[in-house]
Amino acid sequence: MNTSFVERRPNGRPETHDIRQYTRGYSEGEFKRLQLQGDFVRDLTEDVLRRAGLKQGMHVLDLGCGVGDVSLLAGQLVGPSGSVLGIDRSQDAVEAAERRAVEAGQCYWVRFTSADLASFVPERKFDAIIGRLVLMYLPEPAETLRRLAGFLRPAGIVAFQEMSMPYARSLPPTPLFTQALSWIIRAFARTGFETDMGGKLFSTYLAAGLPIPQMISGARVEGGAESPGYEYMAQTVRSLIPALERMGITTAADIGIDDLADRRRDEAVAHEACIMFPPMTGAWTRLPQ
Ligand SMILES: C[S@@+](CC[C@H](N)C(=O)[O-])C[C@H]1O[C@@H](n2cnc3c(N)ncnc32)[C@H](O)[C@@H]1O
Repeated sequence: MNTSFVERRPNGRPETHDIRQYTRGYSEGEFKRLQLQGDFVRDLTEDVLRRAGLKQGMHVLDLGCGVGDVSLLAGQLVGPSGSVLGIDRSQDAVEAAERRAVEAGQCYWVRFTSADLASFVPERKFDAIIGRLVLMYLPEPAETLRRLAGFLRPAGIVAFQEMSMPYARSLPPTPLFTQALSWIIRAFARTGFETDMGGKLFSTYLAAGLPIPQMISGARVEGGAESPGYEYMAQTVRSLIPALERMGITTAADIGIDDLADRRRDEAVAHEACIMFPPMTGAWTRLPQ
């Protein structure tokens, strides 16, 4: 199977991606989609980070930081007496995250660097290693966690939040929602990415040699004409179009991507349907003293 596709970077240059590395190539649209997603689940992530024990003065490593949503959230919790280092292999994402840290007034203690998690070697020890929606992309998440946990101080925190895509649903079921969810899950599954990483967090922590984690799961449940959920789902489908077309699953024209959000809104309103978005499961633990 040919797993590469070409997408235009924010600077206008075409870039070839391998869908096994990351289903969504980075584009301006993907930055916006990640921010929309970040806003959508922000309170769920903040809850997990607080439960995990992030607090003022801590030094935190954020794995697969994307455009910085989790890093900036952690930056608020640790404050200027602490620090956050976000790492991502996309240089474009790191640059966008740096700009956002400046805008947020956090650039003195929230920093970013571009690196691959498989080989990244930090220059310091951390009080916490965190991440959201990143373990699902790793070929060996337990091995990566085990290696990077070696850069934690005694009693260091490991806190991750991951999705369980197959458990999203519309109540009552509606055809366009079911179709769009199927496109999303098929695109991910065909790449070998884990669509239920939330359900695998417990076993992954244990396989990484970490202490048994505490866990919690939560999902946004949305309905009505004003929900941002239709746009979020449509943007997710849009970001997967290069992969969907390359895999022969469907095309932008067949999807009708330009008005997908509007049609989803109309469908949900007409059926008085609410959407349970994919549960986001958080897991956190501490190393021994
Ligand atoms: C869905 S995004 C999540 C971004 C961010 N954690 C958030 O929740 O907003 C996944 C990110 O993981 C990064 N990523 C995936 N595999 C990686 C690897 N092996 N090394 C570094 N970054 C990786 C991707 O580049 C992408 O930015």
